[in-house]
Amino acid sequence: MKLIGPFKQIVTLANLPLRGKLSDDQLEIINDGGLLIKDGKIETADSFQKLKDQFPNIEVENIEGEQICLPAFVDSHTHICFGGNRANDFAMRNAGKTYLEIAETGGGIWSSVQHTRSASEEELLKTTLERINFLISQGITTIEIKSGYGLDVESELKMLRVIKKAQTFTQATLIPTCLSAHLKPRDFEGSSQEYLQYIIDEILPKVKEENLAERVDIFIEKSAFLPEESKAFLLKAKELGFEITVHADQFTSGSSRIAVEVGAKSADHLEATIDEDIEFLAQSETVATALPGASLGLGEKFTPARKILDANGILAIASDWNPGSAPMGNLITQASILATFEKLSTAEVLAGITFRSAFALSLEDRGTLAKGMKADFVTFKTDNFQNVLYHQGSLKAENVYIDGEKF
Ligand code: NIG
Ligand code: FE
Repeated sequence: MKLIGPFKQIVTLANLPLRGKLSDDQLEIINDGGLLIKDGKIETADSFQKLKDQFPNIEVENIEGEQICLPAFVDSHTHICFGGNRANDFAMRNAGKTYLEIAETGGGIWSSVQHTRSASEEELLKTTLERINFLISQGITTIEIKSGYGLDVESELKMLRVIKKAQTFTQATLIPTCLSAHLKPRDFEGSSQEYLQYIIDEILPKVKEENLAERVDIFIEKSAFLPEESKAFLLKAKELGFEITVHADQFTSGSSRIAVEVGAKSADHLEATIDEDIEFLAQSETVATALPGASLGLGEKFTPARKILDANGILAIASDWNPGSAPMGNLITQASILATFEKLSTAEVLAGITFRSAFALSLEDRGTLAKGMKADFVTFKTDNFQNVLYHQGSLKAENVYIDGEKF
């Protein structure tokens, strides 16, 4: 056992509801707190002095100066395994072209596919690990990573194998997701429905065989896959035993309904979700994931996070870090900007990047500092937890702990 502290404040995020609105006075804040760690898990979060008195001979890891402590963050939606760069898309959008127009002319996702296909496994591994380390430096210790820039058997498996290999080089938890249904590749001869069947027949069985992912994603949108074919695809993927997540309602509404109907773990994006569908989603078990980094990258509106919480939905917030729509990769900056535009409380934002985003990944062992939880936490050099979002990402994490050990 080991005692870490004293922290000016520990915000445990324990004992909060999974869904709906939260106010900051619902937060459990332990002033001058300590964390008792046993076998990589939280044993107790309590007054530092009280724990010291209780265990006079315990090993103490002293915290210097004033620091606050939060559960480590969970980024439940990223595309950080990719080759190339899309700065040119950014410039074209700012010169007046839309994301969908760029996609239609062979830029966009397709250009990242070409770069990712031509990258070696070593190159992809190196850049993916660099991005993982950048996320860890922000206090993110659980990272979902999607395929989706390979779009044929060989290249999709290459991406997923790289993600699996990356796991052997990092202490962060990586959650791989198969997004072969990101786009029908331009070199596929056949309809989009036939491409979806090819994923079911040729890609997913191998993903299963090699144990490369347990989750399947699809981009339902005009430029990608249509609602009906997507629904049929998702039901088949579910039958094969995969958990489902959906890129839904990014530009056109309707697909979040499909996500709910197929029992998806999460529906992500939702910038275009109409009020009626917000209600439908909010009454379900499907997590609504806001991706403010994509709104900022594209200059599009934000996910209606306030309405989702007011309707009692489960709101997560993730970075969507990818080379096209969301090249920033700074989750705290994005989440605090979402808070200012959508009027979210600090508690709602913190819940959205901890236990609620963990729930979107079916991880129930993390996201709060309650007894028995994985001892992943992050500290900031400040005397008040509200400063973390207030500074919109410019207050950097001081230390990141994984399984109770300083990273
Ligand atoms: O989540 N919308 C589709 N997929 C990604 C973007 C991928 C890309 O532009 O490369 C997203 O925004
Ligand atoms: Fe995405």
